Amino acid sequence: MSDGPQDVAVRPAEDVPCHDPDEKKGQRMTTKNALERLTAVRGLENVIAGDTRICTVDGTEGCLIYSGYEIRDLAAHASFAEAVYLLWNGELPTELQLATFRDRLVTEMRLPSQVIEMIKLAPPSAHPMDLLRTAVSALAMYDPEVEDRSPEACERKSIRLLAQTITIVADAHRVRHGCPVLSPDLGMSFGANFLYMLRGRIPNEEERAAFELLLMLHLEHGFNASTFAARVTASTLSNMHAALTSGLGTLKGKLHGGANERAIDIFDSIDDLDAIEDYIDGMLNAGKRIMGFGHRVYKVEDPRARLLRRHAHALCRRAGMADLESIATRIEQVVLDRKGIYPNVDFYSGLVQHALDIPKAYFTAIFACARTAGWLAHIREQYADNRLIRPTSNYVGPIGKRARPIAERG
Ligand code: COA
Repeated sequence: MSDGPQDVAVRPAEDVPCHDPDEKKGQRMTTKNALERLTAVRGLENVIAGDTRICTVDGTEGCLIYSGYEIRDLAAHASFAEAVYLLWNGELPTELQLATFRDRLVTEMRLPSQVIEMIKLAPPSAHPMDLLRTAVSALAMYDPEVEDRSPEACERKSIRLLAQTITIVADAHRVRHGCPVLSPDLGMSFGANFLYMLRGRIPNEEERAAFELLLMLHLEHGFNASTFAARVTASTLSNMHAALTSGLGTLKGKLHGGANERAIDIFDSIDDLDAIEDYIDGMLNAGKRIMGFGHRVYKVEDPRARLLRRHAHALCRRAGMADLESIATRIEQVVLDRKGIYPNVDFYSGLVQHALDIPKAYFTAIFACARTAGWLAHIREQYADNRLIRPTSNYVGPIGKRARPIAERG
């Protein structure tokens, strides 16, 4: 079913009689509402919901821009921390600014002991995204500046929240696998520290570069569903922790951030190049979606998938999974042939993380850590020029019904 302006509802008009199905024939009600035809835009597709200086996506050209810089340019010349600095400050840092920024991030990576206990007490079956969302929500209770929305306090909280989010995910993984939690290594980049604290070994250059890029590509993507959710919460002047919690809850869904965990499932189901066509056809004929493919905005190839593909292939080869490289390439060809759609970032971010030996259950949580920096930029932008986000809806239900006492119903 296509999205679009086809959902037209009719509102009752002023002094226009409205039938109440429960009323006796002949009896009528009137309403003061004017008769108007309203149009709902399903999924808010193409609706411009606000102004932003943070990011823009050109889905026709396959172009992603962070604060004026094209993503390919940033990917070639900047680290994840530099891109975060850019989104929060509007310009890339100098060496000195970056060093200070990185030191502050690394220093803020510790968690309140109560939150560490909470992570330890979480049931092993809890999904890392549920754990992350709950822990970020809990952090509000231990942040002395939680209700201070001044730009200075918001800047300090942004550093804290990004750093703490990464520690939550790394610690959750370590605790659940019976490993000691690790402190960051000041000699490594912020992104490399994340991978180190998660897996317990210092990444080689190829791993570091791929993971830094993955974080940078997940950092920001305009008014997507989770960012919009975070901005809606911020627009009520709720605190930053609450807005992040909204973003996290929204990102978890399988049509959004949750797709990367499912995208990798396809590689478990296919171990032979010759089986790919039948597998894809079977899925499509059953009306199922191929996870990691298609995008609401990109009508051409997702530039993030293009940037990650090379790293995914190289990591697969190094990890002795070269067969996955050719399977991925073939899947791309078949899905493009059948549906005319391309892989999105989740297809290759799933593969990169798989090759980095990161458990599938953590894929979305890692995405969330990177996107936290984007959400924080949006939350601060919303606070700086706020108007409560409160759209309206098309009422398509009945009117004119009369409430009867409960004893008379039935
Ligand atoms: N697998 C199979 N078909 C897909 C598809 C997918 N992943 N994504 C889109 N399509 C098809 C739809 O079936 C529809 O085909 P039709 O016109 O023959 O009915 C057409 O493409 C348009 O789909 P639509 O649902 O209108 O696109 P959308 O903009 O609402 O969907 C997504 C965007 C992301 C929700 C959708 O592509 C999807 O579900 N992808 C899989 C989940 C995913 O990877 N999400 C991460 C996004 S970064």
